[in-house]
Amino acid sequence: MRTYLVTGGAGFIGSNYIHYMFRKYDNEIRIINVDALTYAGNLENLADIENRDNYTFVKANICDREAIDKIFAENDIDRVVHFAAESHVDRSIVNPEIFVQTNVLGTATMLNAAKKAWELPDGTFKEGKKFLHVSTDEVYGSLPEDGGYFYETTPYAPHSPYSASKAGSDMLVRAYMDTYKFPANITNCSNNYGPYQFPEKLIPLTINNALAGKKLPIYGDGKNVRDWLYVDDHAKAIDMVQEKGKLFETYNVGGHNEKQNIEIVKTIIEVLREELSDDDPRKAHVTEDLITYVEDRKGHDRRYAIAPDKIKAEIGWEPETMFKEGIRKTIKWFFENEEWMKNVTSGDYQKYYEGMYSKKLS
Ligand code: NAD
Ligand code: DAU
Repeated sequence: MRTYLVTGGAGFIGSNYIHYMFRKYDNEIRIINVDALTYAGNLENLADIENRDNYTFVKANICDREAIDKIFAENDIDRVVHFAAESHVDRSIVNPEIFVQTNVLGTATMLNAAKKAWELPDGTFKEGKKFLHVSTDEVYGSLPEDGGYFYETTPYAPHSPYSASKAGSDMLVRAYMDTYKFPANITNCSNNYGPYQFPEKLIPLTINNALAGKKLPIYGDGKNVRDWLYVDDHAKAIDMVQEKGKLFETYNVGGHNEKQNIEIVKTIIEVLREELSDDDPRKAHVTEDLITYVEDRKGHDRRYAIAPDKIKAEIGWEPETMFKEGIRKTIKWFFENEEWMKNVTSGDYQKYYEGMYSKKLS
């Protein structure tokens, strides 16, 4: 049975990936999920699979070399899927150092531990071992409004401390592949959305605020463009890259689904109104009147757009979920999981929200 070590599996994409993998492979695989459970990690995301015999959770920090080495020593790991990271651009602008620690040094620890466990005396690696580093399109910087795409060959030009730290981690993975022929791949994906996304990011924050009748903060002129992908499509791409991709290659993942932020927020309001029943009192306040333009994000990248030509041609991956369908599924999930939202927005989230938005919205 193949054993996966997933880092950051209690976060948004990691937990969706674990669900996807159990749906697809059921008892044919074993998953060990290592996560430090930062503010973004939530075991509630995995409550329905936590009792599976082929699933283990280990609470550890990826920067903790001893803890990570121990996992490799005690388990014959076949695949690493490395999600764990500090992931929110706005937090990186306020507190960049933790991004360098987790994203750069944590990735170095993971690479080193896997190399130690998998390397043979002649410097080659045990058959079939693979490391997949999950990265972002933000490493490529910003595109002009009127054209162009990010290709795998686009030079790196990160702007935020978050994207700079992810670029640093990508460079380390590239260095391991070039120097040691370390068996790895990198995926650079566009903006994800879907169930379990923490409401610091645009889509769940907008859903949560709209339902509560709170203002919907839009940075700058609202015309920044992101290329949105339903999270299950990302999970599928990661699995396909590990199964069908060529080792040492980078694959861009995205769905040709470019939208301005203002379009995203208006679509959410429209779909929320369609899904709320007429006698639901929230329907009266879920309107475009909540939209509030606020001070722009510092260094705000104008446009991201992925060219997914390589992953389509070499691997046959294509996104399956159209945006309107994905947003509807996401909104329905949030309706059915109000308790989840209540739990993640209590306590520290309130402090974060006030710190980030109270001045902007006043
Ligand atoms: P997230 O913030 O929702 O989850 C991150 C997870 O990592 C959490 O469970 C957290 O507890 C864990 N973690 C953080 N620091 C850790 C540490 N030091 N040790 C162990 N665990 C730690 O992030 P996400 O949105 O799910 O993103 C996952 C990965 O995908 C990240 O590497 C991110 O850069 C990348 N990515 C995200 C997107 C997106 O749109 N969200 C798009 C492309 C790539
Ligand atoms: O492109 C992939 C990246 O997408 C990932 O690597 C990151 O981990 C992920 O957080 C995401 O980064 P963004 O900065 O693009 O996502 P966010 O949801 O924070 O913002 C999306 C857009 O919406 C961006 O242009 C900023 C804007 N925005 C965001 C928030 C939170 C607002 O206008 N108002 C808001 O309150």
